[in-house]
Amino acid sequence: MTVQAFQLEIHATPEDLVAQGALLWHHWSTLAIAERGRFTVALAGGSTPKLLYRTLAQTSGLDWQHTWLFWGDERYVPADHLDSNYRMVKESLLDAISIPPEQIVAPPTTGGDPVQDAQRYQQTLQQIFPSDWPSFDLAILGMGEDGHTASLFPGTPALEVEDQWVTVGQKEDQPRLTLTRPALNASRQVLFLITGSSKAARLKEVLTTEPHLPVQRIRPQGHLLWFLDAAAAAELPLHITL
Ligand code: 6PG
Repeated sequence: MTVQAFQLEIHATPEDLVAQGALLWHHWSTLAIAERGRFTVALAGGSTPKLLYRTLAQTSGLDWQHTWLFWGDERYVPADHLDSNYRMVKESLLDAISIPPEQIVAPPTTGGDPVQDAQRYQQTLQQIFPSDWPSFDLAILGMGEDGHTASLFPGTPALEVEDQWVTVGQKEDQPRLTLTRPALNASRQVLFLITGSSKAARLKEVLTTEPHLPVQRIRPQGHLLWFLDAAAAAELPLHITL
């Protein structure tokens, strides 16, 4: 098994973690825009990413005019639904920044057929990324307590899809649109944001066992970065000598 090189940072609190995340966002966006004229980010749902989005909304000096926002996954609900990741990003970030509307590329979730809407989202992405795979400059991901990421849940068919950019994930009986494993793995940077003691045991399993969980199968061609808070990292066998 080839070992995926990764970088891991442990921050005392979620607030410290997202403050560093905002600094990295500034750094990566400056480089991407200088090199390619745009900064493309696949956003995650969940509580820790939400805290980052709120921090970004308060961060000065970010070039939103050359930033493109996508969603790594989306619940199959209308954009104004309480469960909508789009709604969460709108309320925590979009309402506070000035970004060209065409650069907010959210998955369609009201066509009545998640499979067709997943294909629509894929077609939209393929127009923006005219290549074999999307090359997000950054994909932000969280981890569920079961080791899922995006809407790639353990033991579900979506996790095995390798010939599509977007597919339909399933959480219990809820369909969700999600980027596939190869689409996520084509990203230049993947940043996992994981906080809270409820993730500690699973995180130890993720970082110390052979890949068998969705999170462990995110092995980007680019850079893999884990941002943890102390609570989530509490069970890691880290021998830190200060
Ligand atoms: C979603 C996310 C999902 C999330 C994890 C972790 O749509 O909810 O894409 O994969 O990242 O469930 O969520 P928390 O960070 O809130 O624990």
